[in-house]
Amino acid sequence: MAYNTLLLEIANSIALLKVNRPQALNALNQEVLLELLAAFQELEKDVNVRAIILTGEGKAFVAGADIKEMLGLTPQEGRRFSKFGHTLMETIENIGKPVIAAVNGFALGGGMELALACDFIFASDDAKFGQPEINLGLIPGFGGTQRLARLIGKSHAKELIYTGQMIGAQEAKELGIINKVFPAEDLLAAAKKTASTIVSKGAWAVRLAKSAVEAGFDLDLKTACQIESDSFGLCFSHSDQKEGITAFIEKRKPAFTST
Ligand code: CAA
Repeated sequence: MAYNTLLLEIANSIALLKVNRPQALNALNQEVLLELLAAFQELEKDVNVRAIILTGEGKAFVAGADIKEMLGLTPQEGRRFSKFGHTLMETIENIGKPVIAAVNGFALGGGMELALACDFIFASDDAKFGQPEINLGLIPGFGGTQRLARLIGKSHAKELIYTGQMIGAQEAKELGIINKVFPAEDLLAAAKKTASTIVSKGAWAVRLAKSAVEAGFDLDLKTACQIESDSFGLCFSHSDQKEGITAFIEKRKPAFTST
């Protein structure tokens, strides 16, 4: 499918998806949101894609929801807009393939929330993170009050949300928002290298690992561990586990076949 606001390249089973609206710092207007949803749905179905890297064109990852489009929304429209954002974030969390956010610049408001919905975040050393909605008389609307608080704890999340301050990549790493920081010119290569490592594993086990973490995360430990046991059991429904274990015993590399 062709997109107006996204660039999509697929190579070596890795999809590189770029938000491409640099003149507005990749702000999420209706078109970008709809296209992102369509792209993730397309990539979920594409058996040639085993991992996805999400990044931005130009000096921003995504500088937030499109502020100009929000002027004049009614309370009902605002709620609907937020709900649509949640649909996109949940789609990313539920897609059975890893999604790495490669944050190459500003990740603000809805842009930070988009990165938080990915499996993990790598960032360039000049990336900037923040939930500046408070400066607009708003609160985060695409999951920032919830995913950020779950990730870094309520008090750090509240400080970022109440002040609207921007933080650099190093501070974001110290807070546990991002996994790794790279020089800007190395970011995509690093994301691709990690994606390739994941692609070399059995896709069935990766899918089950992701869904077990996602499904269990907000539940009590006992229920979540039950989900893990069910998922662990499901690993045995694919020949990948036989191949993985046999390869270990035979001291060779496994040749996984699931897609
Ligand atoms: N929405 C719409 N347009 C945006 C935008 C946004 N979120 N962020 C930047 N732009 C546009 C600017 O209006 C500007 O367009 P024009 O050239 O037509 O004026 C263009 O992108 C370049 O931006 P700047 O000139 O401002 O670039 P800068 O380098 O001076 O500043 C910035 C960069 C600090 C990121 C600044 O653009 C900024 O503060 N942007 C807004 C960030 C923000 O508040 N994001 C949260 C949005 S609300 C939200 O996301 C709600 C939610 O949770 C769902």
